[in-house]
Amino acid sequence: MEHNDKTPLSVERTLLERRSIRRYERMPLSADDASFIRDSIRNTPTSYNGQQFSVIEITDQELKEQLAEIVGQKQLKTSAVVFAFLSDFNKIAVAARAKGLENPGFERTADGLIVGTVDAALAMMSAIVAATSRGLATCPIGYARTVDPTRISALLGLPKGVYLVCALAVGVPREIPDQHPKQPEDLVIFKNSYGTPNMADKLMAYDRTISEFNATRSGTKSDNDWTGHILGYYREGMNYNMLTALRAQGYDVEK
Ligand SMILES: Cc1cc2nc3c(=O)[nH]c(=O)nc-3n(C[C@H](O)[C@H](O)[C@H](O)COP(=O)(O)O)c2cc1C
Repeated sequence: MEHNDKTPLSVERTLLERRSIRRYERMPLSADDASFIRDSIRNTPTSYNGQQFSVIEITDQELKEQLAEIVGQKQLKTSAVVFAFLSDFNKIAVAARAKGLENPGFERTADGLIVGTVDAALAMMSAIVAATSRGLATCPIGYARTVDPTRISALLGLPKGVYLVCALAVGVPREIPDQHPKQPEDLVIFKNSYGTPNMADKLMAYDRTISEFNATRSGTKSDNDWTGHILGYYREGMNYNMLTALRAQGYDVEK
């Protein structure tokens, strides 16, 4: 995916060669690249055109180092910029008050939570695609949501109705890691109804593909499989207390 000149990558290369990159040159983004990423974020499709998301662009190095320290992910300090993608029902609350309209508090429903989360996630993908097309490196940082939501919300001054869905580190790549093999098409794209024949066999073949990849890839190798490794992440995730964190931010889901 090496791409150092100024010509944007084609859509095909942008989408098919993207990978998460975790090592960056210590240099800022060009003004034009940063502006293109911001415009791409703004043009994200959203439910109802409600734009139930906001983004905090973090370039302040001291703040990035604090984030890295709390979250335990070095990409937050070594990248040029961190974008924090937020589900945001504060802006509509502000607008409703300004117009004297009653606000039903949609963020207190499961669907409101989903809507804000989907909007923020799509906005992050817009940023990933824009940055990748300019030859930049990106890495989503979900741990920015889960590790210590109370401290992160305070550090970023998040009001009620706003929670951090995911952070994204963006920088000039210092390395181009191998791409992870992904599940084959018939495990991902089902035809007309859910499922594919012999799903367990196909999943076990993929599990072996990932074991092989982890054992032979460039850089840090491991003996991780896919199934056991992912279940390990889920086991760790069982200890997160996102419901309490969401409630503290006003996502007091009732139905
Ligand atoms: C929502 C989300 C959260 C993620 N959180 C992290 C993270 O906290 N740290 C990290 O190093 N990578 C993180 N990743 C990157 C994944 O590990 C990566 O996408 C996955 O291993 C597949 O590799 P690829 O992006 O190179 O295709 C995250 C990705 C997504 C989509």
